[in-house]
Amino acid sequence: MPKKKVIKKTITKKKTKPVEVKEDLLLQPPRGMRDILPKDQPYWQQVRRVSEKAASDFGYRRIDLPVLEFSNLFSRGIGTGTDIVEKEMYSFSTKGGEKVSLRPEFTAGLVRSYVQNGMQVDPKPVKLYYIGPCYRYDRPQEGRFREFFQFGCEAFGEIDAILDAQMIQMAWRIVHQLGIKNASVSVNSIGCPVCRKQYRNLLVSYFESKRQKLCIDCKRRLETNPMRILDCKEDKCVQVSQNAPQSVDHLCDECRAHFKDLLEYLDELEIPFTIDPNLVRGLDYYTKTVFEIFAGSIEDGVKKNALGGGGRYDGLVKLIGGEDTPAIGFALGMDRLVNEMKKTGAKSYIPPQPKVFLAQLGSFAKRKSLKMFEALERAGIMVAESFGRGSLKSQLKIADRLGVELTLILGQKEAIDGTVILKEMASGTQEVINAAKIVDEVKKRLKK
Ligand code: HAM
Repeated sequence: MPKKKVIKKTITKKKTKPVEVKEDLLLQPPRGMRDILPKDQPYWQQVRRVSEKAASDFGYRRIDLPVLEFSNLFSRGIGTGTDIVEKEMYSFSTKGGEKVSLRPEFTAGLVRSYVQNGMQVDPKPVKLYYIGPCYRYDRPQEGRFREFFQFGCEAFGEIDAILDAQMIQMAWRIVHQLGIKNASVSVNSIGCPVCRKQYRNLLVSYFESKRQKLCIDCKRRLETNPMRILDCKEDKCVQVSQNAPQSVDHLCDECRAHFKDLLEYLDELEIPFTIDPNLVRGLDYYTKTVFEIFAGSIEDGVKKNALGGGGRYDGLVKLIGGEDTPAIGFALGMDRLVNEMKKTGAKSYIPPQPKVFLAQLGSFAKRKSLKMFEALERAGIMVAESFGRGSLKSQLKIADRLGVELTLILGQKEAIDGTVILKEMASGTQEVINAAKIVDEVKKRLKK
């Protein structure tokens, strides 16, 4: 149990004496949220480095968006019948009476920014990437948090399926480069509003005939969002969905050709993928291509926590008030990537280690060592120190433990003489060096 600390809060009641209310201060963040501690940062750093490198290699520019948006952006963009909007948003009214929500994802906000900032006139495709926290008030469980982090890419203005393939290629490459070797890709096409209308009707009549076998949520989805039944994880719904009509069999000519092109590009890229006819995704804005990346193969039945997902959303820019613009994107769940890296023993980021230790002895030397530290740092030399310690022995012990190549010792005498002792750790040899030349001397020796 976390330690409880008691804080005292003073509430002033009208014209009566202030009443003291004792309120428990829980030493923990709200449920589903957590600290990412220094020991885990090398994994996060690796995810950020690999993702941002891929984004820049593929020509994406970074965009940062507010964590809060007006709530109706999400209800209009993601869809009122979706789980995210219906159940999972952190929504509240501000003091000024504005209805706002913490972003449950980036795409809607990014489309808002694209339209608002006139990016529609930029040369196409406009390629943007983002990285940051999202919030969904879902039941926390393994791999599912209320605060989680996404890295994602979105491209505007390109209709060709080659971009769909490139998006999958990029997401796949990131996962692979992080050392998650057992990942698999699922793809599907859910068509455009024209062919989907007809498909939706077929689906509704199929599920109507099986209504009794559906879970309570899916009975409701039958009215609000029948395609989401295909995505339900309840055993009985999975059974019923197995024989449901499949969207790929009911695509219009244009959507069918687009999907065929995508599959050919994926073959060309040699990305192993599975067509999953039940992949519909949980957001309403998708058209044509949808995809997800999982850890493990689909055959192993590991379709639980997707590492990432995305798809085409050709109608969203117009829906949010911009010009009719095709678009596609994906987002990877960084928490899940880190989790999978740890599980599979993938390498984390190894930060550069200092090769020089600066030790000091005596108050005058201590003062001088601050300047020397700065001179070395400015010259791009990473230096370790333990200025708080007085004993030279304990400082040298730390230098040894860090495995540095050189230790500089600045004692009282050296500080007065304007010199410093340079010790080569491998050989143990020591030399007295002119302090003014120490940066050049260290550089020379490190090069050797
Ligand atoms: P999404 O599938 O809702 O898509 O989320 C993308 C990824 O975020 C998921 O595959 C998962 O890895 C991670 N994720 C989602 N919810 C949680 C959670 N509660 N805890 C931990 N990780 C989570 C989107 O958000 C779309 N905006 C993706 C997109 C971009 N489509 C087009 N462009």
